[in-house]
Amino acid sequence: MSKPTSVFVTGLLKEKSALVTGGGSGIGAGIAKRLAEQGARVALVGRTLEKLESVAQEIRAAGGEASTHPCDVREYAKVEAVVNAAATLHGGLDIVVNSAAGNFLAPAATLSANGFRSVIDIDLCGTFNVSRAAFAHLMKTRGHIVNVTATQASVPTPLQCHAGAAKAGIEKLTRDLALEWGRFGVRVNAIAPGPIDDTEGMKRLAPADAETKLKKRVPLERWGSIFEICEAVTFLVSPSATYVTGATLLVDGGTSLLGGGALFDAFG
Ligand code: COA
Repeated sequence: MSKPTSVFVTGLLKEKSALVTGGGSGIGAGIAKRLAEQGARVALVGRTLEKLESVAQEIRAAGGEASTHPCDVREYAKVEAVVNAAATLHGGLDIVVNSAAGNFLAPAATLSANGFRSVIDIDLCGTFNVSRAAFAHLMKTRGHIVNVTATQASVPTPLQCHAGAAKAGIEKLTRDLALEWGRFGVRVNAIAPGPIDDTEGMKRLAPADAETKLKKRVPLERWGSIFEICEAVTFLVSPSATYVTGATLLVDGGTSLLGGGALFDAFG
């Protein structure tokens, strides 16, 4: 595939301020870098300062503005402090991207209750915590939230009951927040990536020997790229999407069209 070109004008997000959770690696880092490239001042939130700093350095080296805020999205008091600090530092908050997630492959029959709860806590409760803490700021700017889910939210997927339940919860939360916060001009949407190359998720969920089998289960016959996820996020926070709220945009190469049975076969 040739290098994709963005249709969005350069500087689209100039004067905007964004906060990205899970901004230290993978899809979250990619989104943070892209928002910064489009002119936004970006607050990176994640558990590991070193990872956040490394992404912030890249953004600064490219001429962008970034700050780092180590925080576990499961802890509401810390989340609230970090969101307020980021808004103060960057002169408000226009965009929140909830990309922080935890995942692993585990059969439901042996997954511990704590393992299940940990993923729900990070993904679903973390998304609520950050959105709730950010609302007061987003209300002032008529800002936007984009939640990152996954096709497991709608497609039954073997070894993924914990992540599927968490992501389905986020998609429902997306619709509920969109309903309640629409009157304040705050749009809330989600994107559901399929298999995306160069991500922590793919390293954890698609071991190398499964790649050939799994690619046959993608109608577009390839993994997606972080760039393609960024383009979907850029659309949702852009003036092209001013009447879009409560939506989940699938960015999965058609993977979910085949349903869970296909993945069940691929995992053997
Ligand atoms: N299989 C089964 N259970 C697992 C597991 C695995 N591969 N990895 C962790 N768990 C269980 C643990 O056994 C523990 O349960 P227990 O107390 O009953 O033994 C529970 O999950 C919590 O694990 P712990 O490592 O203490 O939690 P944590 O809060 O430090 O980490 C995770 C959260 C488990 C989600 C961890 O994988 C993580 O931090 N991931 C972050 C990065 C990531 O997953 N990125 C991928 C995004 S797609």
